[in-house]
Amino acid sequence: MTEEHGPTGDRLYGDADLVRFYDIENGCAADWQYSATMAETAGSVLDLGCGTGGFLTYLEGDRQLCGVDPAKAMLDVARARPRGHTVDWVQDDARTVRLQRKFDLVVLTGHAFQVFLSADDRRAALATIAAHLSPEGRFVFDTRNPLIEDWRSWTPDETQRGFEHPDLGLVTCWNDVCQDVRTGIVTYETHYRAEASGEMFSASSQIAFPGQSELAGMIEEAGLEVEQWLGDWLESAYSKASADIIPIGRLKR
Ligand SMILES: C[S@@+](CC[C@H](N)C(=O)[O-])C[C@H]1O[C@@H](n2cnc3c(N)ncnc32)[C@H](O)[C@@H]1O
Repeated sequence: MTEEHGPTGDRLYGDADLVRFYDIENGCAADWQYSATMAETAGSVLDLGCGTGGFLTYLEGDRQLCGVDPAKAMLDVARARPRGHTVDWVQDDARTVRLQRKFDLVVLTGHAFQVFLSADDRRAALATIAAHLSPEGRFVFDTRNPLIEDWRSWTPDETQRGFEHPDLGLVTCWNDVCQDVRTGIVTYETHYRAEASGEMFSASSQIAFPGQSELAGMIEEAGLEVEQWLGDWLESAYSKASADIIPIGRLKR
């Protein structure tokens, strides 16, 4: 693990050569839209695992905004956004960061919660949420439902795609995947090939798929309570068939 690849060691977020593809492949989706609606009544918002800062800079209105991420290359993109100067960007780890500030809304968007690979990592991230919530504040995050086994389709054949990059021209990309059946941790590769030069950019990433009952216990242990368990961003209640597990809650009363 080198500093170049960030404290989490994942080139996908730590290597500027790969980060330049992030905003082309990811962007405003239903999670940002739903969380932005929650932010309308919040005077302050903390985004843990904020990445390239798309969500915070998408928010309208005047409020205190803070984004935390360990990956410098992601934060460099965030800082350079037109509204990047309106956000306090903090290069740190969501498991351990303590900002000595409270927020009305704490979010983790884009399935960022799945970067916490062990139960201890997840407990630590939940403790960080609890430590930064104001008395009436709310938290929300999404994590893919392990019962759906979404990762099974992240094969080269099923993920082959392409896009035009402003500097590199046509880029072809695909994923590959394997699961450790013992831990449930999924390792997926992301490959980008610049067709004009033949140059390849690749990363190997790991994510966890905690189940709803494990999360429910940990959230309670962290001193938080869930008001709603959603199963998607259309506000369907969570069920075993849901694509996502989305707890929305607050500090335990
Ligand atoms: C899937 S991306 C999501 C980024 C962003 N939230 C979004 O919606 O586009 C996951 C992010 O989590 C960050 N990350 C990895 N380990 C982390 C940690 N220990 N604490 C906080 N963020 C972390 C990565 O650097 C990356 O930016």
